[in-house]
Amino acid sequence: MFNVLPALAPDPILGLSAAFREDTNPNKIDLGVGVYKDEQGNTPIMDAVAKAQHKLLDEETSKTYITPQGVQGYIDNMLNMILGNDSPALLANRVAAVQAPGGCGALRVLAELIKRCGGDTKVWVSDPTWANHIPLIGDAGLTLETYPYFDKETASIRFDAMMETLRTINKGDVVLLHGCCHNPTGADLTPAQWDEVLEVAKEREFVPFVDLAYLGFGDGLTEDAYGLRLLANNLPEVIIAASCSKNFGLYRERVGLAAVVTQDAAQKAIVQSQIQSVARGIYSMPPSYGGALVNIILSDDTLRQNWQNEVEAMRVRMQELRSLLVKHLHEQGATRDFSFVEKQKGMFSYLCITPEQVREVRSKNSVYFVDSSRVNIAGINKSNVETLAKALVSVL
Ligand code: LMR
Repeated sequence: MFNVLPALAPDPILGLSAAFREDTNPNKIDLGVGVYKDEQGNTPIMDAVAKAQHKLLDEETSKTYITPQGVQGYIDNMLNMILGNDSPALLANRVAAVQAPGGCGALRVLAELIKRCGGDTKVWVSDPTWANHIPLIGDAGLTLETYPYFDKETASIRFDAMMETLRTINKGDVVLLHGCCHNPTGADLTPAQWDEVLEVAKEREFVPFVDLAYLGFGDGLTEDAYGLRLLANNLPEVIIAASCSKNFGLYRERVGLAAVVTQDAAQKAIVQSQIQSVARGIYSMPPSYGGALVNIILSDDTLRQNWQNEVEAMRVRMQELRSLLVKHLHEQGATRDFSFVEKQKGMFSYLCITPEQVREVRSKNSVYFVDSSRVNIAGINKSNVETLAKALVSVL
């Protein structure tokens, strides 16, 4: 049976981690997969998470099934955090939601839900977008189209071209937008640009699908929710996939949220039953652990403050690393102006070099990042930045 299957190339992002592990160069540098690393190159358990784990261990009395939608406290806390306590959609009981196994799980559940709505709904994704958006959405049987987003030549958003395409999108199609910290480019829409996206969404009646995987890593926890809140407060329907992998450092626990802002409470009840049925048909119910931890943190004022401080420290550090890289590239004699890296947000930047240059710096200097030229800024530290800058300048 299986002899009809061809072997596949390694995943463009996860495959890099495997190649990095095998590299014996003591000066190798990993800027591949999007994982936060501290100055020593470690990804420690966040302090608020460690405390919540102790609390959960003391308080949890059973491992029986949880509800199909997941930990309800987690869902409520997350919705309040991302949409705001004063969200009109939440106050009107218009938001259906389930805890999902990671942001990936949320994206897939929502893609399956869109598929259930029938028709030949197209999902429009940015060019470029996160590589895994393609299988997560496409393998649910949906057709993907792209809208222009980023220009490598000028290292900036192609906003006019993006808007031109959005103005042609049909009613009922879905437009996937990165809530903040665009993956892979790090180039985010400004609030004024989000305002324009809202207007075109109203005009064309497409449904925005916001992927929010890096809340807090751009400008701050509230600031980064600007676009999502704007759309959710002003449109009848918005689809949301959120992740706690990065901002809670809960990568391996797979903690995400699949939510849908619906037109009214009656529709919400229907959509809620449908999302739960999609989940039941794939994995039945989400693992409780990570959601229980996030619930503990967000429900406790002290732990929540503790966590917010940690997110802020990560955010500020990544911003500093951007400046450090730009400074070192300049010092190593880069003739190209890389100051755009400092303006980009979150964990990633596009260095805007060619795939050949990326592969050359990988084979010559053991610097690992995605062929598109996406680097994980958090993989930089004070000890490797000079080596990194030298290696990059050598292939420019
Ligand atoms: C990334 O983009 O590197 C992360 O979101 C990890 C992944 O699953 O690709």
